[in-house]
Amino acid sequence: MIWLTGNKGMLGSDLEKLLKEYGADFISSDREVDISDRAAVEQFLGDKKIKWIINAAAYTDVDGAESNKDLAFRVNAEAVRNLAEAARTRSAGLIHISTDYVFDGKNQCGYGEDDETSPVNVYGQSKLKGEIYVRDILPEHYIIRTSWLYGAGGRNFVFTMLDLLNTKKEVKVVSDQIGSPTYASDLAEVVMKIIRREDPKYGTYNFSNSGSCNWYEFACEIYLQGRKLGPLTKDVELMPVDTSAFPRPAARPAYSLLKKDRIKMELSIGVRHWKAALADFMGIIRAEKMSADKLRET
Ligand SMILES: NC(=O)c1ccc[n+]([C@@H]2O[C@H](COP(=O)([O-])OP(=O)(O)OC[C@H]3O[C@@H](n4cnc5c(N)ncnc54)[C@H](OP(=O)(O)O)[C@@H]3O)[C@@H](O)[C@H]2O)c1
Repeated sequence: MIWLTGNKGMLGSDLEKLLKEYGADFISSDREVDISDRAAVEQFLGDKKIKWIINAAAYTDVDGAESNKDLAFRVNAEAVRNLAEAARTRSAGLIHISTDYVFDGKNQCGYGEDDETSPVNVYGQSKLKGEIYVRDILPEHYIIRTSWLYGAGGRNFVFTMLDLLNTKKEVKVVSDQIGSPTYASDLAEVVMKIIRREDPKYGTYNFSNSGSCNWYEFACEIYLQGRKLGPLTKDVELMPVDTSAFPRPAARPAYSLLKKDRIKMELSIGVRHWKAALADFMGIIRAEKMSADKLRET
């Protein structure tokens, strides 16, 4: 049996959908099983026969983490230790999701899995601590680092942009942070492929969609595809600005492109371009008439 945590989150909801589609034997939970409470984890698992834990739960408020350091570390590090220990006791594997924010963003050649980590904010520090616990406690793990995640099941940059582009005449977007968007549904497929492997190749892997862009270029593509595919109907001026135009509590890595050679070579996982993945998502938005307004209600 598989235990999926964070099933109400953006990635977790896509994972739950796929687990159902594949007819997997799984249980799932979100806040109702506080993974930072070891006793709650043990009580929930009891003597269930668990083969995998997929951890999609996290404290993901990057700016909020600066003033909620204890909570960020509790959920992104101590809770991950609880899951790794619970997996070890049950001879189960752990698939844990981590982030490009473990890097400082100064390496303009992109980051491989073994490159030096040096987070520039509390969120990144807490996620790095979680990774360290996993590696120390449980050899049977996959840590998948991802970046700039968006999908149907949560607030994200694509919904925010669609909302702004629908309501404003002029939208300013940061152009000096570079990375790779990741469609949550593509990452969920990667997790399913890992689970179905017969020869596990445990370790740390990067996964995002291929290609790179800055947030302004990402916004321009959302605008172009939105005009072409439907959700957007009016002209808007998009303007590139520096990060300094939007002061925020947490620093962000300026360049956080994740190299995907390892996941391609070792796990034979294909990586499609971020524009192709975005087109799929925009098609779904159009088909289901999703909107940021609808999301805000949920
Ligand atoms: N979003 C991104 O751009 C991004 C980028 C790189 C990596 N990642 C990583 O990708 C993973 C998935 O991210 P996401 O954006 O899908 O996250 P998300 O939408 O914030 O979902 C996380 C879920 O975990 C729940 N949760 C929080 N604390 C919990 C606890 N103590 N016990 C049980 N559940 C708890 C959250 O509940 P509440 O909503 O009630 O707090 C939420 O439902 C995370 O590991 C994240 O660090 C995300």
